[in-house]
Amino acid sequence: MKTEKIPVITIDGPSASGKGTVAQLVAQKIGFHYLDSGALYRLVALKTTLSHADIHNADQLAEIAKCLDIVFKNEQIYLDGVIVTENIRAEQCGLLASQLAAYPQVRAALTERQRAFRQLPGLVTDGRDMGSVIFQDATLKIFLTANAEVRAQRRYNQLKEKGISANIADLLHDIKKRDDRDSNRSIAPLEQSADTRLLDTSALTISQAQDAVLSWYNEIAHKASV
Ligand code: DC
Repeated sequence: MKTEKIPVITIDGPSASGKGTVAQLVAQKIGFHYLDSGALYRLVALKTTLSHADIHNADQLAEIAKCLDIVFKNEQIYLDGVIVTENIRAEQCGLLASQLAAYPQVRAALTERQRAFRQLPGLVTDGRDMGSVIFQDATLKIFLTANAEVRAQRRYNQLKEKGISANIADLLHDIKKRDDRDSNRSIAPLEQSADTRLLDTSALTISQAQDAVLSWYNEIAHKASV
């Protein structure tokens, strides 16, 4: 089957919107592969820190992105053979990822890596530009969001569950800073395009958000089959 015929559901949206959780659940439910594209940017950030690279040298950062030795296996993420699943979730790593993601060279270095995840029977992926740049011909494109206060609260609950102490005001400040940078960069900014469906989860549970995605996808798949 031609790659462009393999179904893709893209879920783009701002930081801490819950898009990753929803995307993963939808992928599990319909048996599709899952790509967390933000993890790739976070891995570039972690490798940059570990190798003491210059965060202002875009070409050097692109080289890091191109040569990343990463494996996604059994819900774990390996960088250079070491499990870094939790390390890349640190707030600092997210902030640096957002900074590095503004360099066109870094984005270009990750493009083909992301497209390679498009395999049968299909792919669910989340990020900022999955529908607008990487998989422009996706079967279903969703912009999943929630207001910044709700997202800060969700991030707080997540951290608390892991026994990590946090301050809601600081989290809200970081989320707004990241939204601003991800939305205002000149290349592949976070924005809702015309061919994308809006899913505002501020007042929805994860299961309701998952059901909304599945019902949109079933509707499209059904139309395609008649
Ligand atoms: O989704 P996340 O919070 O794990 O992403 C971390 C950063 O990576 C985010 O602030 C911006 C960047 N990113 C991006 O520019 N494009 C993507 N498709 C995914 C993430």
